[in-house]
Amino acid sequence: MEEGKTFKKEKLVNAVLRNILRNKNKIKYGKFIYPNFKKILDKIFSSDSIRNYIYSTIFTKPKNYQISLIDNQKALYKKRVFILDKKIIKECFVQDIGNFEVIYSVRKFFKDKTLIDVCAAPGGKSILLNSFGFDVVAIDNSQSQISKFKENLKRLDIKINIQKVDFLKAKFTQKFNSILLDAPCSALGTFRRNPDVTLKIDQSKIKKHQKIQIQMIEKSLKILNKKGFLVYIVCSFHPFETIEVIDKIMQKHKNIKLHNINSDKMIKRQSGYFINPLSFKELGGSDVFFVSVLEKIK
Ligand SMILES: C[S@@+](CC[C@H](N)C(=O)[O-])C[C@H]1O[C@@H](n2cnc3c(N)ncnc32)[C@H](O)[C@@H]1O
Repeated sequence: MEEGKTFKKEKLVNAVLRNILRNKNKIKYGKFIYPNFKKILDKIFSSDSIRNYIYSTIFTKPKNYQISLIDNQKALYKKRVFILDKKIIKECFVQDIGNFEVIYSVRKFFKDKTLIDVCAAPGGKSILLNSFGFDVVAIDNSQSQISKFKENLKRLDIKINIQKVDFLKAKFTQKFNSILLDAPCSALGTFRRNPDVTLKIDQSKIKKHQKIQIQMIEKSLKILNKKGFLVYIVCSFHPFETIEVIDKIMQKHKNIKLHNINSDKMIKRQSGYFINPLSFKELGGSDVFFVSVLEKIK
């Protein structure tokens, strides 16, 4: 509108905007999407309705969610998820509903109460797992992220054992039955909140992420007990950081079994599952996460 005023075409700009709003549902968003982003999306989501929903949500302000630490009958989803309007409820923390869904669906694989979260800060997943009764040992190598984690814990009045360690260099004297690896990635799946990620897809950078992701899985497998579970998560749907990472691990390690996840909010693609943001449409959509559940069988 302001642009319209400066060249005295307010009426024309208004007419165009009104027309766009009237035809909002008929807009073919696909042609406005960066081709590289489109190509990657097409590889993962074959359904037109999912793709169109993702394209259209890049252009709308997403809903934010807050998760309750305790069950609450008034919640919108699974007794835990609320919309974040203006204020955070006292016993809630901010987290995307897709993030919640991933942890909610995989928690049953963690048979042991003690769990190590090896890329834990700022703590979203550790806090949620703590609220489901797990004793979390949280590791991260970033002081600034750990400080945010501690602020979150203080506000929520929760205690979690946090260790500032580089996971790839750390020496462990014990092994674990349950490991969560929420690996560093391109964050492509957060396109609704950070639309610029769709324009910054850099193959060589993503290959570097893949190298670290594989190193982190290898290290996790070394400290995982036999019959133990490793859950690998990234907030991306780039094949390099998701399917390809797990394929490479499966080719090298013959003692790993992949497990199915029971969630109607995810889509299975080869070696793992992607959150289907369309399945959360009624609640306001979600980010896209990839998750794969690995068991060390021998
Ligand atoms: C995707 S974020 C984790 C988000 C967190 N799990 C949550 O739910 O809030 C990845 C984290 O890995 C950490 N990280 C990256 N390289 C690491 C390393 N070598 N050792 C430990 N942490 C590392 C980063 O500092 C970052 O906090």
